[in-house]
Amino acid sequence: MIIGLIKESGKERRVALLPEVIAALVKLNVPVMVEKNAGERSYVSDEDYIEAGATIHSKKEVVTESGMIVKINPPTDEELGWMKEEQIFLGVLNPLVDHEIVKKLASARVTGFSMDIIPRTSRAQAMDILSSMATVNGYKAVLTAANTLPKFFPMFMTAAGTITPAKVLILGAGVAGLQALATSRKLGGVVEVFDVRAAVKEEVTGLGGKFIDVEGARDEKSAGGYAVEQTEEFKSRQAQAIHDHAVKSDVIICTAQIPGKKAPVLLKKETVEAMKPGSVIIDIAASSGGNCELTKDGETIVIHGITIIGNSFFTIDMPYDASKMFGKNVLNFLKLMISPTEGFRINWEDDIVKGTCVTYNNEIINERVKALIQN
Ligand code: NAI
Repeated sequence: MIIGLIKESGKERRVALLPEVIAALVKLNVPVMVEKNAGERSYVSDEDYIEAGATIHSKKEVVTESGMIVKINPPTDEELGWMKEEQIFLGVLNPLVDHEIVKKLASARVTGFSMDIIPRTSRAQAMDILSSMATVNGYKAVLTAANTLPKFFPMFMTAAGTITPAKVLILGAGVAGLQALATSRKLGGVVEVFDVRAAVKEEVTGLGGKFIDVEGARDEKSAGGYAVEQTEEFKSRQAQAIHDHAVKSDVIICTAQIPGKKAPVLLKKETVEAMKPGSVIIDIAASSGGNCELTKDGETIVIHGITIIGNSFFTIDMPYDASKMFGKNVLNFLKLMISPTEGFRINWEDDIVKGTCVTYNNEIINERVKALIQN
């Protein structure tokens, strides 16, 4: 089966597969077609792809002649219009939220794999694109905060006096939050962290952060490592604790999310208004509603001297390494279905393959997605 790599559209600067991944696929006897200029916004040329063993074509040729199309963002209507029954699309469909694209793929009888719903098991860690992109987001969020803050991050003892270190508050200690903590510490900030999952306390302290305990959080093993909705009583206790710490912070990095749901609102308008002018809030949860009540997704706003940056896609600003990590995750996933001698086969017995497939043969086959769409 031929794998086809197509160019992203809109503001996206990443590309799903870098030449190093193409070379690995070619070594597994998988031919790869690449759309002209697919990698240009990640600083990869067509010549680099040719050297890795790919052939270069128009978008239409790649879409119509490949068995599997690989792209990060969902297919456009034009791309989907060119696809045939039983062709495979592999990308990030956000199917827990974007039900329209799921329905479109199913009615076109396209087999859709969505890398963002890969099961969160130890074996799937090397394929987890959410972790990879969260790493980029957490890192870039802190660098952006440091660039925006009218103060230093580290402590300095200078002839002109002592500079106190920046106080950083991180909401949510998942992959992005822990990366933000590590990056803030490297820059010399003093960091406090909130999360509803007590399991992360040790990791936070291990990375040099202070974990802020709020009693009574619901933490369910059945949620597969994810957070769950909290009780109203907990939410009001947490809001007070966050308020008390936020007003003393110079930087707040918001990363708290609940998969398939609106992000929890943790920073109220009143809290922002009580913060020190010049402080910076970076809301990585912006695309799912934001942790700050005032966040505007994709915008930078200034209120009472506080800069609030709503950006869930810092990956766009680091396209090379973001593409490198994404492609490596995809390659590890594809290896579950490719044998150098027997070729490609959708290995339905593998829980990771099955759990990542959203549509097959005119049907929505992922139970989580199906339940959400039916309700
Ligand atoms: P996420 O992006 O869904 O959420 C970020 C963080 O926000 C989480 O730590 C969550 O507990 C926290 N949060 C949610 N609601 C909150 C609230 N009301 N107040 C404060 N914090 C709140 O999480 P992410 O980064 O995708 O991963 C979560 C966990 O999943 C990881 O820490 C890890 O244990 C697990 N994981 C497992 C993987 C695997 O085994 N393949 C791969 C990646 C993560």
